[in-house]
Amino acid sequence: AAVNPLRTLILAAAGNDTIRRLVATAPVSRDVVRRFVAGETTEDAVTATKDLVAAGLSVTLDYLGEDTTDRAQAEKTVQAYLELLDRLRADGLADRAEVSVKLSAVGQALDERLALDNASRICAAAEQAGTTVTLDMEDHTTTDSTLGILRELRRTWPWAGGVLQAYLHRTFDDATALATEGSRIRLCKGAYKEPDTVAHVAPHEVDLAYVRCVNALLAGDGYPMFATHDPRLVEVIGERARWYGRKPGSYEYQMLYGVRPEEQRRLAGAGETVRVYIPYGEEWYGYLMRRMAEKPANTALFLRSLVSK
Ligand code: FDA
Repeated sequence: AAVNPLRTLILAAAGNDTIRRLVATAPVSRDVVRRFVAGETTEDAVTATKDLVAAGLSVTLDYLGEDTTDRAQAEKTVQAYLELLDRLRADGLADRAEVSVKLSAVGQALDERLALDNASRICAAAEQAGTTVTLDMEDHTTTDSTLGILRELRRTWPWAGGVLQAYLHRTFDDATALATEGSRIRLCKGAYKEPDTVAHVAPHEVDLAYVRCVNALLAGDGYPMFATHDPRLVEVIGERARWYGRKPGSYEYQMLYGVRPEEQRRLAGAGETVRVYIPYGEEWYGYLMRRMAEKPANTALFLRSLVSK
């Protein structure tokens, strides 16, 4: 595939400290940050949740941070989730708001056992609060470990959810195996740069693989969560759900905070369950840069915001 120079530039900016400071302090760019990230605090996350729930949407909240090799940092992430889950319960939001957790943020790279223990603490708190947890999926070197930890968690908390990435060659088999009663599986295209030995690289191939997995999940007895903004896939998912006799509520759509918000509301208005993935926390910079790299229109908006006063 052709290299997109803007994408390369933005990803380079992601590692640049001067640009990071500029983005963090430029007044207009703060609005762009706010479009995709709910804010830095638990309070910000709860406020965004209330707005979306009032609009008929459900949410899953992600405390930003990944790739921790530091126990104290992993503990800080766990504490952030515990505090958030407490607030969701206290504010009566737990029936519409769950949490998404990246195992690398709670110590997976350091010690798998630590990641399992930390994820278990978050699941126990979610149970107390009356909601659920979904484990995000990261790069392909972590897939087996993450699915193993998910299996362990599901022994105690059968509602613990996982994510499959359509771009991986292995995923159709994983989707088939995980499409069982009570199994909550989010299907996404996949966001990491993977070698062609393990993943489809051509976008068209990824889309075809996504549709095969849609069929595998809808044909089974689980609860599929279709995470995509792709209008063609949203349409195919709707058609396939009807074909498999699935009623709205026996599966759901998921989209990111700030991405196609009018489509999120349109689907919810049509009676579908739509869950918005809300990232929040101090570590918003890398997340924002990945969103910029994905979509040229976002990048233009972002670059304009840096130069205008
Ligand atoms: P893609 O980016 O290919 O875009 C297809 C089409 O969608 C575009 O042509 C456009 O029409 C429309 N579109 C996309 N972005 C738009 C925008 N900003 N504005 C308007 N239209 C837009 N990944 C991962 O590896 N592990 C994970 O755990 C998760 N979790 C996750 C949760 C949720 C809720 C979502 C939505 C996504 C993820 N992802 C993820 C990310 C996912 O793998 C993928 O990188 C992005 O969702 C982008 O892929 P799309 O399916 O949206 O299509």
